[in-house]
Amino acid sequence: MRQIKPDIYAVGAVDWDRRLFDELIPLPDGTSYNAYLIKGSGKTALLDAVDPTKTEVLIGNLVSLGLDRIDYLVSHHAEQDHSGAIQDILALYPDAEVVANPKCKGMLIDLLCIDEDKFITVDDSQTLSLGDKTLQFIYIPWVHWPETFGTYLKEDKILFPCDFFGSHLATSSLFVEDEPRVYEAAKRYYAEIMMPFRTVIQKNLEKIKNLQIDMIAPSHGPIYDKPKFIIDAYKDWVSDNVKNEVVLAYVSMHDSTRKMVEHFVEALIERDITVKQFNLTVTDIGQLAMALVDAATIVLGSPTVLTGAHPSAAYAAILANALRPKTKFASIIGSYGWGGRMVEQITSLIPNLKVELLEPVVAKGYPKDSDFTALDKLADAILEKHCELGIIK
Ligand code: FEO
Repeated sequence: MRQIKPDIYAVGAVDWDRRLFDELIPLPDGTSYNAYLIKGSGKTALLDAVDPTKTEVLIGNLVSLGLDRIDYLVSHHAEQDHSGAIQDILALYPDAEVVANPKCKGMLIDLLCIDEDKFITVDDSQTLSLGDKTLQFIYIPWVHWPETFGTYLKEDKILFPCDFFGSHLATSSLFVEDEPRVYEAAKRYYAEIMMPFRTVIQKNLEKIKNLQIDMIAPSHGPIYDKPKFIIDAYKDWVSDNVKNEVVLAYVSMHDSTRKMVEHFVEALIERDITVKQFNLTVTDIGQLAMALVDAATIVLGSPTVLTGAHPSAAYAAILANALRPKTKFASIIGSYGWGGRMVEQITSLIPNLKVELLEPVVAKGYPKDSDFTALDKLADAILEKHCELGIIK
């Protein structure tokens, strides 16, 4: 437990050892489940709980503060990494009322079986007085579920935005100390869970634009005591601008596709296009997701397995389709032995990508001169498209 400002405490837990979230998202740097305790002159509020695996840490922190009551437990987001300990907190502080918006209330009842009569529901912009401190609730949907909202603590000018602006980063620093490291972790987090809702997040940024914010205290990672850094980063990520980059995610079985990838990467570099290459057999999908935040073009490389795409390439296509990056162009390269529908299959897996599909290059067996020539033409086409966007200097 640590004090952020007088009567405001960080009471959550750092999870140094967690390496996977949702059984999907790699956590190379662990994470934290932040919860905050605000003592007003009249009432006391707890903002969020923690993952159920860290309930004892939260309770230990609350007990060490000598609290005899909690009046309000504000639950910004029903996902269990922030709500999982609510029932235990209610058992310890039976007079506490759960504060949520109507959608979040419904989800908490569904997911955690909390009694309906424990809730107070709040509207967008509604305030709740703790005496000398005032909580103002701000709906910021889709960061990362539709019910998510945040709290602005008016007198102290602190925004508690839940997952929004967060980073999966276990650190002993209460506040951001190493900005490049936090930037990387926050971008990874944005890419993995918020990128699909980019246009809604643009609106959420607009919504908080006129608040005076001295600090942003998210539900994962360190607190931003210089919030401009992360707000500016988000503005860049959610903007419609793409960069002169090609994400090339591939898998190869017998080196045909690998040879094509090697040639193609060189061709792109010769044309001053930045390439981010990922071998899908070993790739950290968080790195792949981060690369998709900015890239103008994605190219998937796959051999043909039986009659279709290699399952690793299909996985990457499904992932990109789910993450809905702002990528403008796409293509497919790869190889086959005796036939199949690799290109058609991959294309069918990416309906959410609003991309122009550039002519794929598929070699029969090991690539020949004509295949390398076709790859050069594809690199030329990408160069032309990037020039048209004005992203090549
Ligand atoms: Fe950190 Fe969407 O929960």
